[in-house]
Amino acid sequence: MNLNKLYRNSFHFCSPGGWINDPNGFGFYGGRYHLFYQHNPNDTKWGSMHWGHAVSEDLLRWSTLPIALAPDRPYDRDGCFSGSAVEDEGRHVLMYTGNRVPGPDDPPAGPNEARQTQCIAVGDGKRYHKLAANPVIGSGLLTAGYAPGDFRDPKLWREGSGWYCIVAAREKHEGGQLLLYTARDLEHWRLVGVAASGGGSFGTMWECPDFFPLSGGEVLVWSPQNVPQRGCRYQNKHSSVYSIGKLDRGTAVFDGSEPREIDFGPDFYAPQSLEAPDGRRIMIAWMQMWERTVPPDELGHGWAGAMTLPRELEVRDGELLQRPLRELEAYRTNPRSIRERVAGSKAQNALRGHCLDLDLVLTPRGAREVGIILKQGRHTGTRISYTPAERRLVLDRARSGRPIVSTAADRPDCSVYCCEVHPATEALSLRIILDRSSCEVFADGGRRVMTATIYAPDESDGVSFFATGGKAEVSGAAWDLRVPSEGAT
Ligand code: FRU
Repeated sequence: MNLNKLYRNSFHFCSPGGWINDPNGFGFYGGRYHLFYQHNPNDTKWGSMHWGHAVSEDLLRWSTLPIALAPDRPYDRDGCFSGSAVEDEGRHVLMYTGNRVPGPDDPPAGPNEARQTQCIAVGDGKRYHKLAANPVIGSGLLTAGYAPGDFRDPKLWREGSGWYCIVAAREKHEGGQLLLYTARDLEHWRLVGVAASGGGSFGTMWECPDFFPLSGGEVLVWSPQNVPQRGCRYQNKHSSVYSIGKLDRGTAVFDGSEPREIDFGPDFYAPQSLEAPDGRRIMIAWMQMWERTVPPDELGHGWAGAMTLPRELEVRDGELLQRPLRELEAYRTNPRSIRERVAGSKAQNALRGHCLDLDLVLTPRGAREVGIILKQGRHTGTRISYTPAERRLVLDRARSGRPIVSTAADRPDCSVYCCEVHPATEALSLRIILDRSSCEVFADGGRRVMTATIYAPDESDGVSFFATGGKAEVSGAAWDLRVPSEGAT
């Protein structure tokens, strides 16, 4: 496949060619960060799922390695679906879902035909072999009432002398659930019980659990599907949420806070996290969404899909805070300080570029609305606006450039997104990271984040500030971001 590089990001991991979705097995092993990912090497649409593999020293510049897992066994012949990785006595252990659509000779599989089972592969950071004992968790370890075709995405961890994993599942009446399993070794698993459940009203299926300790508590993360929209909440049909609490390893029950969305923009799904050697908890997610057109696919650019910027996590006052990975600061150049009084619209001629780091404070001094237009051209621009009276931040990509169209009849708009903000004063801080086809907005010290893909024409690289209904001030600093191009295979 020939790659057209027009929209390729320079410091966000992008598909090396073909399609990518979820991050898989995100972790640190053998002195480097490893990112595996759902990958169809043969097409720029979802299809035959492999685990692609890349490594990095700083989570920003990635080198692609050979594909780690291919769907080549009877139990995973229709896809090596998502999962996780851990280090165990020098080995790199991957746990993934084998997907199999029953053929005409197979006995009936149940409600939705496919069968999903949990499998293990072990390797050295480059090559991986699947265990002869696979699948290690089969549909036999699912109780009646569960769909054998919606049982996937194991999150594996080691604790004491044993192992645990949390697997996403779908129960007939309860919808999405997370099940806890335990094992003494990697091959003999037993069901402990239900860790969390949507109770029939919070998503038809849950996907991609993550689970980790942070700031003295435990955080459970998952991606519920088909959650009804409530104003600015669950604008995406499929979203990703977190809950902070405690998992009882004996009963399986996770006693946690009300789930909250992790990101309020259009393009954030299936996040995974790792612990860096210095103790930071870092999260990455697929920077795209199901049921949408994908411009590089439509345009025949030979690739489709990217990951978000890795984010450092912290829990403060019961909330998950996200901040851009600090390693990015090493790639800042051309610093500028900003102090603008705005009434109406004001172009920032010194602030041009597709790859920018903006660290700003918007202070309304009477204005009803204050904001920024990013990647601005004659007829294009992505609009970020803050209305203090409503405590609302809006990201509008309707005129960003190449349109992205929703194919989900019940969520026809995928352009204008909002979230509530609650800064201590009227002033709102915004850290905005722009790459060639992405925009990530970290508001109010990382309490709210909005992530969007935007495919702007090359010449659409301007920035303006605006204030309506009065005056405002925009102050802070800005840098160009210059990250040397992707590593080789
Ligand atoms: C989430 C997901 C996972 C599944 C994978 C298949 O985006 O649907 O549940 O394992 O993608 O590619």
